[in-house]
Amino acid sequence: MSNLFLRACRGERVERVPVWFMRQAGRSLPRYRELRKTYGVLELTQTPALAAEVSIEPIERLGVDAAILFADIMLLPMAMGVDVQIVEGVGPVIAKPGPELQPFDPSRVAFLAETIKILRSKLAVPVIGFSGAPFTLASYLIEGKPSRTWLTTKKFMLERPAEWDLLMQKLSDGVIEYLKLQIAAGAQAVQLFDSWVGCLSPVQYRAQVLPHVQKIFKALGPTVPRLHFGTHTAGMLEDFANVECEVIGVDWRISLAEARKRIGNKTLQGNLDPTLLLGPWEALTQTVDHMLAEIDSKQKYIFNLGHGMLPEANDAVVKKLVDYVHTK
Ligand code: CP3
Repeated sequence: MSNLFLRACRGERVERVPVWFMRQAGRSLPRYRELRKTYGVLELTQTPALAAEVSIEPIERLGVDAAILFADIMLLPMAMGVDVQIVEGVGPVIAKPGPELQPFDPSRVAFLAETIKILRSKLAVPVIGFSGAPFTLASYLIEGKPSRTWLTTKKFMLERPAEWDLLMQKLSDGVIEYLKLQIAAGAQAVQLFDSWVGCLSPVQYRAQVLPHVQKIFKALGPTVPRLHFGTHTAGMLEDFANVECEVIGVDWRISLAEARKRIGNKTLQGNLDPTLLLGPWEALTQTVDHMLAEIDSKQKYIFNLGHGMLPEANDAVVKKLVDYVHTK
């Protein structure tokens, strides 16, 4: 059963719905919380033995069908010369916001290859590598900190289109090398997180972002399943899915049935609202039943949240949910 996730990615019929959760590592789990008393997030990602422990914790406690590398999307800009801090209760903060980048230096993320090797030696379930997508990364570089409007980024795209294009090219080249490094080390699937791209209009997405994402997926090739995830993408889903990849991740603002129709032949991943894990069990199971009834859940489907696990989620409830989906 250990390759259930990979088989679903490739479109094969499976006997049980594969389950994993975005941000399943390092949120509310006890061992992670304990480690965080001593280490910063980035320090944990840079220490292979500890990062591997954090990735393994949800496999053992929750029984999910895939592990995600414990890393962060900001490690790539850091390996391109950007000074990043992860500030408690805020998120990534950039010392000097702007589009300046150096070429990707793989020696600055060599620890990721070590972590992946440890994970492969210890786990029966597949290991997912990941990167932020160029738009989402650029939004942090330009805003300098998390934003809810992405005004500075969107103004930059309108006022300095040539510089934007150059920034997208540099980031895309970095993403390709960064993901290839993870695949070479043993990552069995890779997910591109374009978490904030849904703030753009479909027309602007198509003109100023999509060609770069298409280039990334093409350059990776089909050696391992490629997953493309974004939130607020319902208005641009055909474009979002118009890349060479095997899996499309969607959030809960679209029904699985509609997403299924619009992403073509690809595997669908999602899309439980993470908030449902904080509510009554009956509301959760009703929603899950409804989701699974909307699609053929045993083919081209991977159960996941529509965005990351909330830190408030209770791991006993999450475990019960994994078991519940596995009985379906
Ligand atoms: O999925 C996992 O469990 C593996 C590890 C992982 C982290 N970041 C570790 C982390 C993953 C997949 C990410 C991806 C990531 N990082 C994204 C894309 C996914 C998404 O949620 O949309 C983004 C936008 C970031 C940037 C980032 N890093 C933010 C906004 C924050 C602060 C708020 C938060 O908790 O999400 C971080 C810090 C960070 N990265 C933490 C973890 C576990 C929080 C650490 C803590 O406070 O203990």
